[in-house]
Amino acid sequence: MSVHKEIKKVTTHVVSDMKQRGEKISMITAYDYSMGTIVDTAGIDVILVGDSAANVMAGYETTLPITLDQMIYHAASVVRAVKRALVVVDLPFGTYQGNSHEALASAIRVMKETEADAIKLEGGEEVIESIRRILTAGIPVMGHLGLTPQSIHKFGTYTVRAKEEAEAQKLINDAKLLEEAGCFALVLEKIPADLATKVAKEISIPVIGIGAGSGVDGQVLVLHDMLGINNGFSPRFLRRYLNLFTEMTGAVGRYIDDVKNGDFPNENEQY
Ligand code: KIV
Repeated sequence: MSVHKEIKKVTTHVVSDMKQRGEKISMITAYDYSMGTIVDTAGIDVILVGDSAANVMAGYETTLPITLDQMIYHAASVVRAVKRALVVVDLPFGTYQGNSHEALASAIRVMKETEADAIKLEGGEEVIESIRRILTAGIPVMGHLGLTPQSIHKFGTYTVRAKEEAEAQKLINDAKLLEEAGCFALVLEKIPADLATKVAKEISIPVIGIGAGSGVDGQVLVLHDMLGINNGFSPRFLRRYLNLFTEMTGAVGRYIDDVKNGDFPNENEQY
């Protein structure tokens, strides 16, 4: 039974509890105050201030260029809007892989300057020292395995990950390592559904999927993709709930016409 509407503030404990009770966790991205208000009002459980902001907000090809200062600006804007959802912020590329002290300093800046609830970072064994050190400061960490967009130049494509046995086994090992280290949840991106289901069954922390099938504990989508603001991106896993690109260009087009033909403003729209 879903009790999510009665919860006043979603914490990491609430999210863990949802897995125990078998209630699916809803998660979506947001990068600004207005969208944060909309998704929180709609009742989303978790808001991810994702480094996908680099793509959808800034127009970069990859997530690599976004900086810690820019992520902090986006996250603080979202946090100001949110009353109920748990807000998780991505540590951007280059702010946690170098060494664990740098990782902790980055995570502390996010928590201090945005007042978000948790951070997320990509990778398993390779970044486990960083994860452990961040956790020692009492900062909740969400892991991210499978397709990890910050490593795009290592893999060269955004295709489905862990189809081969060796990569699948590494992913399972990494998921267990993240659980043991103390991560409160894990995102699995673009991996075979059977593998994601197996991971969700084998670890006790919530597994939130994107392109990872229905056998996990929750789902996450990029807001601009599911609203159809981004009309050039149509992976198989994406369900579009609106076609806002068409709606919005149409509305702006009508405004342009009204300005050009003198219809706007009319008598009631002036002083
Ligand atoms: O940055 C992001 O939006 C993400 C999601 C795709 C999980 O990491």
